[in-house]
Amino acid sequence: MQARCDGYADSDIAREPRERTVGSVGFVGSAGGKGGGRVLGAASATAHANIALIKYWGKADERLIIPRTSSLSLTLDGLETHTSVEFVEPVPESESETGLESEPAGTHALQGTMRDTLRDTLTIDGRVYSGGPLARVSRFLDIVRERSGIHAPARVISRNTVPFGAGLASSASAFAALAAAAARAAGLDLSDRDLSRLARRGSGSACRSVFGGLVQWHAGHDDLTSYADPVATDMKLAIIVITISAGEKPLSSRLAMRRTVTTSPLYPAWTRASERDLHEALDAISRRDLRRLGEISEANAMGMHATMISARPPVIYWLPQSIAALHAVEEVRADGLPAWSTMDAGPNVKVLTDSEHAERVAGALHERLVGCEIQVHHAGTGVRCTTRNKGDR
Ligand code: DP6
Repeated sequence: MQARCDGYADSDIAREPRERTVGSVGFVGSAGGKGGGRVLGAASATAHANIALIKYWGKADERLIIPRTSSLSLTLDGLETHTSVEFVEPVPESESETGLESEPAGTHALQGTMRDTLRDTLTIDGRVYSGGPLARVSRFLDIVRERSGIHAPARVISRNTVPFGAGLASSASAFAALAAAAARAAGLDLSDRDLSRLARRGSGSACRSVFGGLVQWHAGHDDLTSYADPVATDMKLAIIVITISAGEKPLSSRLAMRRTVTTSPLYPAWTRASERDLHEALDAISRRDLRRLGEISEANAMGMHATMISARPPVIYWLPQSIAALHAVEEVRADGLPAWSTMDAGPNVKVLTDSEHAERVAGALHERLVGCEIQVHHAGTGVRCTTRNKGDR
């Protein structure tokens, strides 16, 4: 079977609603409005996207982003967000005119006497954002400000190597990088676990991108108990991304998730199945059983999409070529290659395989899916700070 994937020009990242767009591609920005003052703290971090094998779909607590179920993912190489954060002491109007010395850090914004009160700035891949994306980032930075005692606006600048054509509408790398850079810039010394808890507040899946390789997000029941940690394995897994469409999604994943939880009669069954799936997936990993891991992952993703399709009104992300790609994966598997599908909140298909077979699987898919962009990704590393804050050792 052959299927064509051309005629779908734009990235679903680029064409998603604004709020989702920011989450998807990461952040770049500038803070403090015009001019800006003394830099109180600055740091940069790089994080990679992750693809869930056992999905996170549904929140028990919307504000704290506590999921209904635990999930399991693979952090990927190549799909990267690099973010720098500077907390900048605002310049009071009078001062900017007279050149007077500034007051101690953070006092101005709290007093509300500034021309630029707590006003963060955000630039993503060279484009300055305001509105929903900036508000989402600012809300996240407020958590960091509250914990650190820094009450100054931030300048956030983000670059992505996530190819727009990849169709990876994941906010994971974006908020993992933002969390690490902002925490470091604010002088917070967080353990990896606490960093994953912080990243979770920006976007649930971001907590998993704090770690490399296979990662489990323990659902927990509150802010303290909901965190990610790595799953030890020597399996060499790979994910092949089949870009079906970079076109606009009908609905952001956040809204789709909410609608599914509140309206799909299938949702409770999926959550029960998902707990079992996770257990079996971890067991398959401990036995290095790729076939079993692939079967469970595929079933879990299809079940998640069943809950979306049965939501009221339905959420249908699939395009005709998504189905063609799912069939192509089945055919490749029937030919003896290890390949299992998974899909997220979008039409693109990702394929679980291992590093040894990844290029062959990609080649076999390429023959069947004419015009689709097909990319191989191996396991990637966790988030890392790439520049240090003043005073760090
Ligand atoms: C389908 O992490 O983007 O990719 O917490 O609302 O920001 P928010 O959602 P997000 O959802 C990801 C959903 C998924 C499955 C997964 O990554 O586990």
